Amino acid sequence: MIDREHVTLVRQLDQLNADKDAHPGSEAFSEILSQLGRQINAHFDTEEEILRGCGMPSQVVLEHVQAHTEIIEQYARLNLDLMNGKHHSREEALGLVRRWIVDHVLTHDVKLSGYLAETPTRKTPDV
Ligand SMILES: [Fe+2]
Ligand SMILES: [Fe+2]
Repeated sequence: MIDREHVTLVRQLDQLNADKDAHPGSEAFSEILSQLGRQINAHFDTEEEILRGCGMPSQVVLEHVQAHTEIIEQYARLNLDLMNGKHHSREEALGLVRRWIVDHVLTHDVKLSGYLAETPTRKTPDV
């Protein structure tokens, strides 16, 4: 499921890259950005639920969740900037989105795969 969601996120990034009219501040860019925001939020929720139940050391989980929070904050800041008419170049904005999606997966999400391989069934919390 996580892999599937990553593919969807990378597709949004590809779409932003492919749509040369999608300049920060344009309608095309805003449309993709808001869709991306919803997908990122939903994906982080899914991933964090799995993170908390997969047996990873709590420090690693904490760092991963903090990285998500930072991305959400950067996303909000970008939206606020664009709303206020602050200029962001296309390269700058695409670089940011790339870091949220590709760099984050390579830095944080990859660590998850080892734990999921070891624990095919997710632990349910004690009640
Ligand atoms: Fe993540
Ligand atoms: Fe992820």
